[in-house]
Amino acid sequence: MKAVQTPRRDGPTAGAASRPGTAQPGEAGPTERPGAAAPARAGDTPATAFDGRGRRIHLQEVGPRDGLQAEERFVDTEDKIALVDALSAAGLAKIEVSSFVSATAIPQLRDAEAVLRRIRRRPGVVYSALVPNPRGAERALESRADELNLVMSASASHNLANLRMTQTQSLAALAQTAALARAAGVAVNVSLSCSFGCPMEGEVPAHAVLDWCGRCLAETGASGLTLCDTTGMAYPTQVARLTRAFLGRFAGTELTLHFHNTRGMGLANVLAGIEAGADRFDASVGGLGGCPYAPGATGNVCTEEIAHALQWMGWDTGVDLGLLLQASRRLPALVGHDVPSQLLKAGDRLALHPLPADFEHLQARALARG
Ligand code: COA
Ligand code: ZN
Repeated sequence: MKAVQTPRRDGPTAGAASRPGTAQPGEAGPTERPGAAAPARAGDTPATAFDGRGRRIHLQEVGPRDGLQAEERFVDTEDKIALVDALSAAGLAKIEVSSFVSATAIPQLRDAEAVLRRIRRRPGVVYSALVPNPRGAERALESRADELNLVMSASASHNLANLRMTQTQSLAALAQTAALARAAGVAVNVSLSCSFGCPMEGEVPAHAVLDWCGRCLAETGASGLTLCDTTGMAYPTQVARLTRAFLGRFAGTELTLHFHNTRGMGLANVLAGIEAGADRFDASVGGLGGCPYAPGATGNVCTEEIAHALQWMGWDTGVDLGLLLQASRRLPALVGHDVPSQLLKAGDRLALHPLPADFEHLQARALARG
């Protein structure tokens, strides 16, 4: 008979003491930090999305903007500031802090100035803000945003619904907006909504998306562009194709992929993007998010879920998962409801549960059977 090994029973993480990465549900706490993988060796198989080897993936936090804009409840300015500060402390190197849009369009972010002015700025962290027009740029620059994230849509219908302009008008507004940023020496990124499909028009052909990318980059001189899957229509093979096409055509432009988890394909899309060469991803703490002017929009991919998965696969995200989960744990009280994050409920994959109360009895009984 094979001996049944007796696990240690010393508390809620019984049996866990010798395992790396052990943590309570809701805590990250791996002692052997996932992501700190051995460097690649000569003769190794080629790197894939499933084998990070300690390489960096940039996670860019959009929860304070994409997340809170979608909420019914206005989150107090002080709470927004505390959230951004907590995300800075968790190691997110770029944080979209708010948007400088019309307060009628997005009343939840009407306190953008106050938030930008009063956050604690960590050296090295880029604090960006979304702006749709020159008026937004003036406000954002006055509030010392480090980067302006300009926005327009690859879909004519969504552009009109969201920004109340034709795409041509948006492009002209973006050019003027970018000129203001350039004059102030501030970096510009363009986010192209509905790059993987429009909830009202359906497919947006890849060639049309790439043409809009080209026009946006030419008009704005932006250093980066974000392909946004505004309502979670992207699927992995499409992501891989568009990512490769973008990188082939716009080498030198910093590409970010922005996914919403509306149909449960968020993590798969991130991995498809990595496999195709992308290394920057937007994500939202708690999995909050969504554009109020895109029918059917739901939360972004969840920052802690993506960080957890990537770190266990050997990627370096630069994120302290324990601190990130602490920030996420405060969200339900702020927004007044449960948040989508599954990691918040389950904890790190090695967050263990206690043995059954009658474990010793079960063990003795099993052993007695011989
Ligand atoms: N910041 C603050 N107020 C602004 C503004 C900005 N960037 N741009 C315009 N406004 C104000 C105007 O001053 C005007 O105010 P008033 O009614 O008190 O005079 C009002 O908004 C309407 O201005 P107008 O230029 O006619 O804008 P519009 O009604 O055509 O709307 C946008 C255009 C872009 C301002 C608006 O659609 C918007 O803010 N959209 C953003 C939506 C969004 O953030 N979606 C989610 C992120 S993708
Ligand atoms: Zn979004």
